[in-house]
Amino acid sequence: MSQAQDNLIVVLDVGSASTRVLAGDVNEGALRYCGHAELASAGMRKGMVADLGPAARVVKNAVEQAERVARVNIDSCVVGVGGPHIRGLNTNGGFDLAGRMREITREDVKTAVERARAVERPPDREILHLLPRQFLVDDQPGIFDPIGMIGARLEVDLHIATCSGSALQSTVTCANRGGVEVTEAVLEQIAAAEATLSADERELGVCLLDIGAHSTDFIVFFEGAVAHTGSVPVGGAHFTNDLAVGLQLPVTQAEELKRQYGHAVVTAVPQNAEIEIANPQPQMLRLRMIAEILEPRARELLYFVRENLRQGGVLDALGAGCVLTGGGAMLPGMLDVTESQLRVPVRTGMPVRLSQMPGELAHPSWATAIGLLLYAHRTRASRAAENNGLRARLRAIFAATY
Ligand SMILES: Nc1ncnc2c1ncn2[C@@H]1O[C@H](COP(=O)(O)OP(=O)(O)OP(=O)(O)O)[C@@H](O)[C@H]1O
Ligand SMILES: [Mg+2]
Repeated sequence: MSQAQDNLIVVLDVGSASTRVLAGDVNEGALRYCGHAELASAGMRKGMVADLGPAARVVKNAVEQAERVARVNIDSCVVGVGGPHIRGLNTNGGFDLAGRMREITREDVKTAVERARAVERPPDREILHLLPRQFLVDDQPGIFDPIGMIGARLEVDLHIATCSGSALQSTVTCANRGGVEVTEAVLEQIAAAEATLSADERELGVCLLDIGAHSTDFIVFFEGAVAHTGSVPVGGAHFTNDLAVGLQLPVTQAEELKRQYGHAVVTAVPQNAEIEIANPQPQMLRLRMIAEILEPRARELLYFVRENLRQGGVLDALGAGCVLTGGGAMLPGMLDVTESQLRVPVRTGMPVRLSQMPGELAHPSWATAIGLLLYAHRTRASRAAENNGLRARLRAIFAATY
C-alpha cells in the first residue's frame, strides 16, 4: 500500500434517500477532506437494503465518482449502520478482584465488560458497540477510567447498541458488490453525534435526532456517555408522501414543494400566501394547505420520539436540549414542533467543517458521513496509540467491536 493510500480514510453512508461516499486523508495527524460523491439511493426500503443489485450499483458509481474527485483508489471503507432495526439496551456487570485490594488492570476491565454484555439477546441481533457509561470501583460510581486504581470489586454500567444481523450483512454485501471491503461498521447516531455535538452538551444531557428519509434515529448522551439509542420508522419521505396523497401530486413534485414552501407550523405561514402550480392542472395553492398536511406528521414523529425517550427513562435528562440533524431537519418549523413536544431548547445540528471541505457539504444531511470520517480518524489514532497512555488504551478496548 502506498503512503497516500495508507493515510486515506473512506466512509460510506447508504441512506434511504442518498448514498454518500466521503474520503479524507490524514497528514501529520490532521484530517482533511479529499473527495466525496452523493447519488440518489436505489433498492432501499425502510432504512435497509431491500434490493441488492440496484443498491450496490449506486455504491459502485458513488465510489468511482469519489475516486475521480479525490484522485485515489478506494478499496475499503467504514460503513454507517442505522434505521429502525437499531436497539439499545443498558446492562451492568462486575466481579470481585480475587477478594483483596489490588490494582485494576486492562484485563479486569475486559472481564467486567464481558460480564455486563452477557445478556440474553434475541436471535439475529448483532452487537455494534459496547459503550461504558461508568465504572464502579468498590461501589464508588462515576469512574471513566479505572485502570491503575486500587479496589476489591469492579463493576461497569454498559450501553449495548445492537442491530439486525441480516440488515448489517446486507449493508456489508452491498458495499462488497459495489467494489469496496468494509473494515468497520459504526452506528450512524454515534457518527452524527461526532459531527454535531459539543462535549458540554454530552455532559449536560442531549438528544440528537437524525431525521432521514425513511427513519428518525436518535441517541441520548448524559454525563458524557451514551444513555439511550433508538429509532422510529418515520422520516422526511413520509412528509413528502403525505403531500403527494393530500394534494394529488407526483412524489417528485411534492418533494420539490416541501423543500421550497414546506413548513411544519401552520400558524407561521401567512394566511393569504399562495403559489401557482402547473400540475395536475394550473391552479393556485394556499401555502397554509401544505403546512396543514405537514404539521400533523411532524407532531406524530415527535410524539413517537417522546414516548421512546420516556420509556427509555431519559426524557428528563436533556439539560442541553435537543439537536436536529439529517436532511429532514431542514424543514422550517421542525425546531418549534420539537421544542413544544419535548419541552427543551432545540437547535439545528450542522456538521463541523473539515479542512478543505466544499461548502455543499455544510448541510445536516452530511452529518452522518462527516461524523463517520471523524470517528474513524479518532479510533484509528487511539488504536495507534494503544500502548501509550491509559486513556488511549481504554478507548481502544471499546472501539467498535465489528
Ligand atoms: N430543505 C429541505 N427541506 C425539507 N426536507 C428536506 C430538505 N432537504 C432534505 N430534506 C429531506 O431530508 C430527507 C433526506 O435526508 P437524508 O439525506 O439525511 O436521508 P438519508 O440519510 O438518505 O436517509 P436515512 O437516514 O433515513 O437512511 C428527505 O426526506 C428530504 O425530503
Ligand atoms: Mg441518514
